[in-house]
Amino acid sequence: MNRHYNIACIPGDGIGEEVIAQTTRVLEAATSAEGASLEWREYPFGGAHYLKTGEVFPDSAQEEIKDCDALLLGAIGHPGVKPGILERGILLNLRFAFDQYVNLRPARSYPRIPLPVRLDEGEQIDTVVVRENTEDFYIGVGERSDNGRVRFDIDTRRSLYTASGHLDVDFGNGDAAAVQLGFATEQAIRRVTRFACNLAGERGEKEITLASKANALPQIYGFWDEVAADEAAKQGITLHMANVDALCYHLVRAPSRYSVILTPNMFGDIVSDLLAGISGGLGVAAGGNIGDGLSMFEPVHGSAPDIAGLDRANPLAAILSGRLLLEHLGESASARRVERAVERYLATAPTARLPMEFGGEAGTTQVGGTIAGYAAE
Ligand code: NAD
Ligand code: IPM
Ligand code: MN
Repeated sequence: MNRHYNIACIPGDGIGEEVIAQTTRVLEAATSAEGASLEWREYPFGGAHYLKTGEVFPDSAQEEIKDCDALLLGAIGHPGVKPGILERGILLNLRFAFDQYVNLRPARSYPRIPLPVRLDEGEQIDTVVVRENTEDFYIGVGERSDNGRVRFDIDTRRSLYTASGHLDVDFGNGDAAAVQLGFATEQAIRRVTRFACNLAGERGEKEITLASKANALPQIYGFWDEVAADEAAKQGITLHMANVDALCYHLVRAPSRYSVILTPNMFGDIVSDLLAGISGGLGVAAGGNIGDGLSMFEPVHGSAPDIAGLDRANPLAAILSGRLLLEHLGESASARRVERAVERYLATAPTARLPMEFGGEAGTTQVGGTIAGYAAE
């Protein structure tokens, strides 16, 4: 068996570069200890590259990376670039182009990481958000207008369909207005629901929770409720419906109450940051964008311009995203090495050696170095 892997890598902006440098170190240490090897294909896309060249993400790069075994991404978003250009042009473009229909975002509490919520003795947070990753209000169909008439063509290509049409809304008062559409389709809901049910099964569980809002948006989320419930029943799993607002409330008050949480795209974005907040911080929240083709692994957090370049970022989220990448490659022993190295570091490091996010004094590079050392042992 050839255990040599080509991994595309986009460190991206801000702390993305800093945390990815530590992640590649750790992944190399873990895989070489297990007799596998990684070859990195690094790409410069992000804010600095865009400001220098005007290039966001060329088709040629998409073509090149499609045969890689996985993609590791740091973060995209630059304070000098209008919001959306890079995020949509690189990050969402990759999720859509490779039809990465699941955004998997596990959240667990580790001993010694300070939490803003109270856990009882022995209680743990071990929740996974399974976020639909191709539709909803993220579909990118909308327009704004200065004259009260919003008109646009729809031409949305996904592997499941090509949606075409035209929308023309006259607000009748000549005032500025904007429209953004959300899509939900049966096949897209079914496939992500199946993924969530399989995950629950692997965890030895028989139920999942759907973050819904059918009470206010019955067309799109009422449809979600019906299709997801039907698919879950087919998979032998009980689906509990929770209004997303109440779900957020319960997550704060009873953090270990939920296990697998299935969400439409936008609620998943919000719920995953909330979960990151209650389970230790964005600096420890890992994620994967999973599809049948190229999958992409990236922390939940963004480029954090407020701490970029200061060696203050916590690299654990990126390192644990790397762990998910290794699992995805089938390199379970290397993945376990990474997980154990993180656990050992968090269990044994003197407080001053913990990441600054957890009240310690260790910089990004120091944390990465310690974990890489443990992963190699
Ligand atoms: P953010 O996630 O970058 O930061 C939110 C807060 O969390 C900040 O105070 C930051 O310092 C802190 N934080 C984040 N990661 C941390 C880490 N590893 N260690 C310690 N602290 C950490 O969110 P934002 O400020 O809303 O966005 C900044 C930029 O990143 C924007 O351009 C946004 O569009 C982009 N963004 C990109 C991604 C992505 O690439 N997946 C995700 C979210 C935001
Ligand atoms: C995330 C980010 C992205 C999202 C943005 C940057 C487009 O917040 O990965 O959670 O909304 O999905
Ligand atoms: Mn987000």
